[in-house]
Amino acid sequence: MILVVDFGSQTAHLINRRINEMGVSAKLVLPENALKEIKQNPVKGIIFSGGPASVYAANSPAVDKDVFGLNIPILGICYGQQLICHLLGGTVIPGAKKEFGPAQLKITGRSPLFDKLPDSFQVWMSHGDKVDKAPPGFVKLAETENIVNAALANKQKKIYCIMFHPEVIHTQFGQQVLTNFLAICKVPTKPMVINKQNVDNLIKDIKDSVQENKVICALSGGVDSTVAAVLTHQAIGGNLTCIYIDSGLMREEETSRLRETFRRHYKMNIKQVNAQGLFLQRLKGVVDPEKKRKIIGKTFIDVLEEEAKALGAKYLVQGTIYPDVIESSGTKHSQRIKSHHNVGALPGRMKLILVEPLRTFYKDQVREIGKILGLPKEILQRQPFPGPGLAVRIVGAVTEQRLKLVRQADKIIQEELNKAKLDNRVWQAFAVYPGIKTTGVRGDGRSYGETVAIRIVEAKDAMTVRWARLPYEFLDRMAVRLANEIKQVNRVVYDITNKPPATIEWE
Ligand code: XMP
Repeated sequence: MILVVDFGSQTAHLINRRINEMGVSAKLVLPENALKEIKQNPVKGIIFSGGPASVYAANSPAVDKDVFGLNIPILGICYGQQLICHLLGGTVIPGAKKEFGPAQLKITGRSPLFDKLPDSFQVWMSHGDKVDKAPPGFVKLAETENIVNAALANKQKKIYCIMFHPEVIHTQFGQQVLTNFLAICKVPTKPMVINKQNVDNLIKDIKDSVQENKVICALSGGVDSTVAAVLTHQAIGGNLTCIYIDSGLMREEETSRLRETFRRHYKMNIKQVNAQGLFLQRLKGVVDPEKKRKIIGKTFIDVLEEEAKALGAKYLVQGTIYPDVIESSGTKHSQRIKSHHNVGALPGRMKLILVEPLRTFYKDQVREIGKILGLPKEILQRQPFPGPGLAVRIVGAVTEQRLKLVRQADKIIQEELNKAKLDNRVWQAFAVYPGIKTTGVRGDGRSYGETVAIRIVEAKDAMTVRWARLPYEFLDRMAVRLANEIKQVNRVVYDITNKPPATIEWE
């Protein structure tokens, strides 16, 4: 087993996933329990994750220094690197230039960790501090333009430290770096894939946990909730009723399209609840993004509880996936990024018992499960859409006019994406209402109009994201249509921020 010590990085769980994908078991543990866990388990290697703290901050998480004397290979990532250097006599200082997103790594010293890698490749960074002086016994392995000690090693003690994140999909050769570390640990690897057995187990687990009880499922029509609903339907058939809540925060024609898809493909009990008025009324004048998310989460639950009461249901199935859990702060040392409406935004004293069969999976794995379940392409290939809907794409208060504008803009973006056959190439494409008014000129007259921001990103699991490099002609077509067809709009901007430092949704 590989022990992953979680210092609170948003991507600590991804390290676990990557190790599991190589057919090796991994366990995520808190730093304060690391030594005890090592003594209790057959640990062949230890990975220190990144984390939001600074090694010099009061109460920053650390491990017992005895872990360095156990003769077990150690890999430190980001904060993990800084902690190793700090504890073993090196120095860590605040970086003059902070790095979030891509950087070019140049290998300066060969080692087993960089086996089978080119001399230079792109890595993903997310840090403020950096290692200024390596601890005694460590040699430098790599650098970037801003970081002198981007990778260090004490080869004799098999302690490796890297500043970049090999676990995220945007680090080229990240999986190879982790595979190399497993080789250093002398652990045999065998790549794993999701199969029918995993899916049968999920169905059996649902059946065992809800038994003969009535169950409702919160259905949005996206991949996650549809997969959760189909799994549950296969487990308990008619005891399941899917509830589709029209919050009024949906995209154009979303509700009718969903109804049609389900009518064509499934014989499930589905109930549509129209709650547009309730959502808008509760969101009136609310500007703070976290407040919006909390209000929406609570309103969803209020409606679902009412429906459950009417149906005599005790259980609520949701399509929560792992990144929802993590970004809503799932671990002790990690920070809350945003409250995903189906996790962090749930009211504390909910009466329904939650069933979340996909809670440990990522979106790409959920799509694999969906494929095995035979989900239609139109659902499998749908872009993710956030639970709080267009409310988190409107900066400032949510009003009917703003919803209308963002809906019109979104429709134009989807149409152009579709025409250009780019919809399968990108992870998400959508419009944002940033609430910025600017001066323009239209028909020889002055205009003072609204701005629309276009956000189009490429990703695999949404934990890290690259803004999509799309042809200028395509961007131009969208910009022209947005300003021509939506009368309030006189300016269009393209969001060229990666994640990190931004998130995909603006709120
Ligand atoms: P962020 O904005 O956190 O988004 O980079 C990552 C992915 O999650 C989606 N998202 C949500 N999905 N409930 C959801 O089910 C939510 O509250 C929520 N917020 C963001 C987002 O669209 C992206 O795909």
